[in-house]
Amino acid sequence: MCGIFAYLNYLTPKSRLEVLDLLVTGLKRLEYRGYDSTGVAIDSPDSKNIVMVKRTGKVKVLEDAIKEHFSGGEYSEPVMTHIGIAHTRWATHGVPCERNSHPHRSDEGNGFVVVHNGIITNYNDVKTFLAKRGYEFESDTDTEVFAKLVHHLWKTHPTYSFRELVEQAILQVEGAFAIAVKSKHFPGECVASRRSSPLLVAIKTKSRLATDHIPILYGKVLPRSDSTSEFMPEEKEVEYFFASDASAVIEHTNRVIYLEDDDVAAVRDGTLSIHRLKKSLDDPHAREITTLKMEIQQIMKGNYDYFMQKEIFEQPDSVVNTMRGRVRFDGNAIVLGGIKDYIPEIKRCRRLMLIGCGTSYHSAVATRQLLEELTELPVIVELASDFLDRNTPIFRDDVCFFISQSGETADTLMALRYCKQRGALIVGITNTVGSSICRESHCGVHINAGPEIGVASTKAYTSQFISLVMFALVMSEDRLSLQQRRLEILQALSNLADQIRKVLKLDSKVQELAKDLYQHKSLLIMGRGYNFATCLEGALKVKELTYMHSEGIMAGELKHGPLALVDDSMPVLMIVLRDPVYVKCMNALQQVTSRKGCPVIICEEGDEETKAFSSRHLEIPRTVDCLQGILTVIPMQLLSYHIAVLRGCDVDCPRNLAKSVTVE
Ligand code: M6R
Repeated sequence: MCGIFAYLNYLTPKSRLEVLDLLVTGLKRLEYRGYDSTGVAIDSPDSKNIVMVKRTGKVKVLEDAIKEHFSGGEYSEPVMTHIGIAHTRWATHGVPCERNSHPHRSDEGNGFVVVHNGIITNYNDVKTFLAKRGYEFESDTDTEVFAKLVHHLWKTHPTYSFRELVEQAILQVEGAFAIAVKSKHFPGECVASRRSSPLLVAIKTKSRLATDHIPILYGKVLPRSDSTSEFMPEEKEVEYFFASDASAVIEHTNRVIYLEDDDVAAVRDGTLSIHRLKKSLDDPHAREITTLKMEIQQIMKGNYDYFMQKEIFEQPDSVVNTMRGRVRFDGNAIVLGGIKDYIPEIKRCRRLMLIGCGTSYHSAVATRQLLEELTELPVIVELASDFLDRNTPIFRDDVCFFISQSGETADTLMALRYCKQRGALIVGITNTVGSSICRESHCGVHINAGPEIGVASTKAYTSQFISLVMFALVMSEDRLSLQQRRLEILQALSNLADQIRKVLKLDSKVQELAKDLYQHKSLLIMGRGYNFATCLEGALKVKELTYMHSEGIMAGELKHGPLALVDDSMPVLMIVLRDPVYVKCMNALQQVTSRKGCPVIICEEGDEETKAFSSRHLEIPRTVDCLQGILTVIPMQLLSYHIAVLRGCDVDCPRNLAKSVTVE
């Protein structure tokens, strides 16, 4: 939901063209967060003004416009110190167009320019306040009020530092935001802050930093003389990056600070300070500088056409990475380091609640039955948004799992805070180290799937699935009656990567199938038991990527309504595997074929009896019932991918969507 990128070079000469190149590359890495319009702001060649370029559409459109707008000459002269800010947008207030694109400015002279991610909920009140003082607005966005508010404060408090101006402005706004501000009145300075939207600062110096933390300054006044409270690199030359996530900075540096809510990070004279207005008892004295473990190759497409395609094909490795260092197949032991100290408390709980949105919610649906079986506890699965709408009762002895690839989904984060306030134990299941959900959980499991860039979630789903299976296995470690079942699952986990490789070999067959289906308007996906989650997830993938209607249907519900949709022209896909619900699935299959339906069947390898019901089938290897969902979802991922390509859809950036939904 919008990507922010800012770059500040201090005593490290760079031409404006190089800065623009850095900004555009940063935006490309963040494009998955929103891609309906973009913009940049840099200093004019005489450094007295700020120049902005904005475009509707993806970063490529901006890149072309920049090439056209700035060519050689004065833009290729190196500048010792400079700050550029950039933005890629997912529209919330106002349609995608240049007028609504960021950066937004404070006045015609571009005194202050702002990039923002999130929603300022009281923007109408602030707008009315500013309009009464003569400000005129040129966009439909909430962001513009922030730029104008800083300008108003600057005029009314001429002695305030840049940091103080931004700090006073954030005190007046409500909602969620990450912002970066540049000003022609404070050249070479950048101020950034966040509340409920992610933002990090990355530091690049020639030699390794001697410190692992940056002290936080508290209180109203920033004591400029107290240099020990700020970060000054040993050598003077330094580059800072402000970004919505680590993928945008990893090619420059692996040293980052994840900002916390209401931190105000300011760079002045090459020195970074982090300031907070109030200090509460449990506030730390410093922000840690984290070393990123991510590799640059992980965020590149390699030989694949799309990130989604690459991520589907990474699954044999990503599932192993999820289990690495945790599952010991020789000793049949599992240790989840992030929650092991909490297991006794979890075992005493009243119930487990699994909460998430979209694909993450589906991973909860997929593993609920196994969790019920192996923990012998009630397991409740909730959509985060609905959970909040209902004011769901939560008790101190509840254990609430928050599942989120990004760790930043607003609905999931709000539900987490709701449960935390009511005293429940909070367990985060995320893929993003340093994300809000990670930091606000009491304990958790990193799914370690590696960066997922395609907006459609694929490898994160299978890794979330496995993380929850591992948790169920941990919970049942000392239950004698469950040992046989545990061994069977562990054995299946050890074969999973090879079986996924086998399923991926169906790719060309799935592509052929996609050719049969891509011109249809709808696709019904039916199954039950352990495969119901695959139906929901498959239908979500089809909708999200191909803009076709698709519905995941619980096969047991067929005769209660959906059967009316079935005829000889309605495309249907059915999952019929040899598990405890096989006979019931066969009943559903017969109900469909006797209405002249001609379903595509996903069945087990060599299951001639089931295959006989249709000419079109995809055969997958046999595994234990509770892991089938991992093997059955992969053909669905491939199918939606191929249909999207055939329909000419933008696979990695489906229309109207963004990877990380940081607004409610
Ligand atoms: O980052 P999260 O896992 O919290 O995101 C939740 C959903 O927005 C996400 O899974 C969405 O449904 C996917 N784009 C679907 O492919």
